[in-house]
Amino acid sequence: MDRITRMSDVALRGKRVFMRVDFNVPLAPDGEVADDTRIRAALPGIHYALGSGAALMIASHLGRPSEGTFSQVDSLAPVARRLSQLLERTVPLKRDWLNGIEVSPGSAVLLENCRFNVGEKANDEPLSRSMAALCDVFVMDAFATAHRVEATTCGISRFAPIACGGPLLMAEIDALSKALLLPERPLVAIVGGSKVSTKLTILRALVDKVDVLIVGGGIANTFLCAAGCNVGKSLAEPNLVGEAATIIAIMRQKGGAVAMPVDLVVSKTFGDDAPSRIVASDAVADDDIILDIGPRTAAAYACQLGQAGTIVWNGPVGVFEMDAFACGTKALGEAIASSKAFSIAGGGDTLAAISRFGLKKHIGYISTGGGAFLEFLEGKTLPAIAALQAATRARRN
Ligand code: 3PG
Repeated sequence: MDRITRMSDVALRGKRVFMRVDFNVPLAPDGEVADDTRIRAALPGIHYALGSGAALMIASHLGRPSEGTFSQVDSLAPVARRLSQLLERTVPLKRDWLNGIEVSPGSAVLLENCRFNVGEKANDEPLSRSMAALCDVFVMDAFATAHRVEATTCGISRFAPIACGGPLLMAEIDALSKALLLPERPLVAIVGGSKVSTKLTILRALVDKVDVLIVGGGIANTFLCAAGCNVGKSLAEPNLVGEAATIIAIMRQKGGAVAMPVDLVVSKTFGDDAPSRIVASDAVADDDIILDIGPRTAAAYACQLGQAGTIVWNGPVGVFEMDAFACGTKALGEAIASSKAFSIAGGGDTLAAISRFGLKKHIGYISTGGGAFLEFLEGKTLPAIAALQAATRARRN
């Protein structure tokens, strides 16, 4: 991967630093921050910049407001309150910041939602230039927004005197590169979730890289169809059975395997208290709904994960939100947690499962990126990363 200047390579003392972070956090009904994981993840970069004596302007989006109009529901005010608590200092929230912002070295301000600015989403050049003019150094530390081509994620990199990657962005790139570009083998990927169609590009990209592909959830149902099994009334995509068969064939051809369930937890209805039973994967009845992998499958997956050198996890293998169908995802998560392999996990459902089963501390790296993590798995170059690489090349020439 092309080089990116890191924030730690840049002298920041007395410099005006514009740092793009991702504070797109869920809000509780009372309007306060419901989950501050992303704010906490950005703290190392913020502490570093402040400790280096930078005059720090922190920018983020929240939600998807209409450009050109301020709306209180999309204001970063609750984020400013939470950030101030976490930093144990007041971080003022600044509105109408495009024409200039006063901030002194060693202090930080939070710039109001960057998506209120007209031209942000379109990566508008004049807007990018105005923002670049506010700073000496642009720091991109919003990995979770690195797949968006916007003025604060891409355009500003072109015009800021120096553009570099912050510690969170670089840690994400380092972890994903370690897992996917230079993995210790065998590389095992788990791709779960409800639909093959939403993960088809990821499955196609991973086939070239992984030694074992474990499929789970509704995705596994389509693969079971491809293997000639009945999936009853379960979620499956008949139009993608051919794709699933091709993936199975490619994996076989290269000496790898698609690991599929040998037993399943099924029910006649969908609900936490619905009576369920365990059946072999070739014994699903026409009126059964598959809701989890069975214990023999969980044990087989755990064995494969125990032998892995690297594990990439995206998506649950059952309806883990319901106790009755959580065992498969829990067993898989625990197998990853106890494996010696370097593991990386990402995606909303996966993070919810990790938190539900208390596995956070035992996963090698947990990505803050949802869409950005998935696009990296797809093998795409994230535009904000490409912009930083271009800025680094331009500076060296
Ligand atoms: C996310 O939550 O995935 C990022 O913050 C990107 O948000 P967006 O999908 O609104 O661009």
